[in-house]
Amino acid sequence: GAQRQADDAPGGPLVIAHRGASAYAPENTLAAVDEARVMGFTWVENDVQRTRDGQLVVMHDESLARTTDVEQRFPGRSPWKVKDFTAAEIARLDAGSWFGSRWAGARVPTLAQYLDRVERNGQNLLLEIKKPELYPGIEGDTLRVLGERGWLDRHHVAERLVVQSFGADTVRAVHDRRPDVVTGFLGTPKVSELPAYARFTDQINPSHTTIDAAYVAAVHRLKGAHGWPLQVSTWTVNDAAAARRVAGYGVDAIITNKPDVVQEATG
Ligand code: G3P
Ligand code: CA
Repeated sequence: GAQRQADDAPGGPLVIAHRGASAYAPENTLAAVDEARVMGFTWVENDVQRTRDGQLVVMHDESLARTTDVEQRFPGRSPWKVKDFTAAEIARLDAGSWFGSRWAGARVPTLAQYLDRVERNGQNLLLEIKKPELYPGIEGDTLRVLGERGWLDRHHVAERLVVQSFGADTVRAVHDRRPDVVTGFLGTPKVSELPAYARFTDQINPSHTTIDAAYVAAVHRLKGAHGWPLQVSTWTVNDAAAARRVAGYGVDAIITNKPDVVQEATG
């Protein structure tokens, strides 16, 4: 199943580039995906939300303000929420200049554009459905786009895709609709609650600040939705000391803005 190669890979956890290689290129853009590829990283993480006209785009914050020039382009539209803008409006925004002038002109990708780039690069995707409570039905929308772009065939679901969310109902909905898709729950459920999660998810993906070796061992003792041991992908680990600490706990994957630093510390 997807990410299981982490178990077999020599020298430490799988390293996943968070929002792309987001310490080195503007987060959640195609440039950040490409930067991860150039650095040699095969897994990227992203965040998916929905526009006013029902298109899926890749953006972390509920508002477009931090990572685009939306305030200058649409001064009257505070607080500049993704859900209040059309896909055509969002497509005109500059999502690179805030990060550095060499990134000027980077765009907010649609999910379809993003999937096509990850595919072209030969990379794999940890897709986060962000703020699902704001977007009723986004689980079905996401699966539809994944299917349209060829990401729900046997090869992709077996090896190349994980869908995660902080919303347990969202993870369960994805699992119920497409039981073949590997899923992850973002959070740190109590150990006593893990068996309930294990019915619909394959991964428990906690903040690195919330875990210890005993917690990781407790997760690993259970079998997840696909019948293999529940995995742990922890976030967001951006320094060598923290990376060594969570690697010592036996996590399966580390989600990081600085994949080079984490690989160097744990590889
Ligand atoms: O992939 C896990 C991590 O991205 C969850 O937090 O806020 O960065 O989406 P956030
Ligand atoms: Ca995320």
